[in-house]
Amino acid sequence: MSDSLNLPEAPRPAPAGPQPPHDPGASLRQSRAKGEPRFPDGPKADPAGSHFERRIRSFQPRRSRVTAGQADALQRLWPKWGLDIDGQRVIDLGELFGNANPVVLEIGFGMGEATARMAAEDPGTNILAVDVHTPGQGNLLNLADQDGLSNVRVGNGDAIILLREMLRPDSLDGLRVYFPDPWPKKRHHKRRLIQPEFLTLAASRLKPGAIVHCATDWEPYAEQMLEVLGAHPDFANTRADGGFAPRPAFRPLTRFEGQGLDKGHVVNDLLFRRVPHQER
Ligand SMILES: C[S@@+](CC[C@H](N)C(=O)[O-])C[C@H]1O[C@@H](n2cnc3c(N)ncnc32)[C@H](O)[C@@H]1O
Repeated sequence: MSDSLNLPEAPRPAPAGPQPPHDPGASLRQSRAKGEPRFPDGPKADPAGSHFERRIRSFQPRRSRVTAGQADALQRLWPKWGLDIDGQRVIDLGELFGNANPVVLEIGFGMGEATARMAAEDPGTNILAVDVHTPGQGNLLNLADQDGLSNVRVGNGDAIILLREMLRPDSLDGLRVYFPDPWPKKRHHKRRLIQPEFLTLAASRLKPGAIVHCATDWEPYAEQMLEVLGAHPDFANTRADGGFAPRPAFRPLTRFEGQGLDKGHVVNDLLFRRVPHQER
């Protein structure tokens, strides 16, 4: 009955007998009535709507546990620093950050530790950091808050929709893709982010001279990145030898990179420049 009227369920009486010790994470999970948003003031679940389009996605939806600290950050800081990628409007990046500083898009920040470090070390650059991973969004908001970073905004949703529907041409000063999901199985290669069509879309939103910086610990993917970036008419390798770049000092080790290094993986960085329009 309450379901069909879309009303919250009435609270259930506590069972008799001894109660379990208090666990803030558990209370977060249990206190929500059916149909109620997970974070009323926080990021929306699936902001563009699952029927926005049918498309192969570069990420795996995962339902991971959000800690009490992350939940608190999502509720408290999302209205100030969060951006739901709903595909419904074009964003003014100057308005989003409150200044005209250069803006770099980071796709797939994971838990956001490297993002926060890079933001702290380069306060004159704005970072629009996008991921679908809710605990990571909470973690990055917390880090930005603790470190007093005003140059980070956290996007929730698919970066493809952000690029295609919400960003203006020539609006980005850089693009960072650090340790994108490698999709090692052949039948999943189509889910890899770095592909010619993605690069064409990204190029349309990047200013001439903007740097695309990718890194991966999956060597076959690194080779693919080098091939498709090297062949794309909108990008030129910053390396005269046309190869991989050493990790630049400004990129800290990331969480996924650490896990890859522990397994003996080799890490490759790629630094390409968006060429001026007339050079196409
Ligand atoms: C392997 S993790 C790497 C995280 C982090 N960069 C690191 O190195 O620790 C890749 C991340 O990219 C995110 N991702 C993949 N495709 C995405 C997309 N189209 N839009 C937003 N996030 C995406 C995933 O959710 C995941 O958190």
